[in-house]
Amino acid sequence: MRPVTRKAVYAGSFDPITLGHRDVILRSLRFVDRLIVAIAVNVAKEPLFSVEERLEFIRLSVEGDPRVEVRFFEGLLVDFVRQNEANLIIRGIRAVSDFEYEFQMALMNRYLAENIETVFMVPSVETTYISSSLVRQVARFRGDVSGLVHPRVARELARKYGVSE
Ligand code: COA
Repeated sequence: MRPVTRKAVYAGSFDPITLGHRDVILRSLRFVDRLIVAIAVNVAKEPLFSVEERLEFIRLSVEGDPRVEVRFFEGLLVDFVRQNEANLIIRGIRAVSDFEYEFQMALMNRYLAENIETVFMVPSVETTYISSSLVRQVARFRGDVSGLVHPRVARELARKYGVSE
């Protein structure tokens, strides 16, 4: 019998990718063979970084792991999952506050594609308070984000907000 290849998609805005997202990626690689980290369009968000910048930051954060592919897509997540012959969607749940939104999205995605499962990951305790918008806010007011993102991301945040090092 042919061994089953587990292929998953971890989608998000990644504006920018944080060490929390990285933690979810590394944990997912313990049980999937291939992972597509995909920048998706969240219609409710106006991103700070361009798609190209965000793709580059994700590549740096995963350090060229051959099991990880980094992509951008427009449209429905379930269509992207199908087109890439994956069958799992990875999401991170950091706190109870994430749950309602994630639960709703998972059920909507199931309505759209019955055979695609959503897997919720619990990130490390050290990263549960991190979110991209808080990172942007701290950087904007010249706070230290070096323990929250890849060093290159920290530099680019400082540059975006006109903070000279
Ligand atoms: N560590 C750190 N931060 C985390 C995290 C973790 N482990 N897990 C989630 N987050 C944060 C993100 O940084 C983000 O924070 P922010 O709002 O402060 O920027 C927030 O939690 C959730 O954002 P993210 O994971 O990027 O997802 P999202 O909510 O922006 O996007 C999509 C959700 C893109 C997956 C969804 O909009 C989508 O599927 N879009 C495609 C269109 C579609 O199919 N729509 C129907 C969906 S039912």
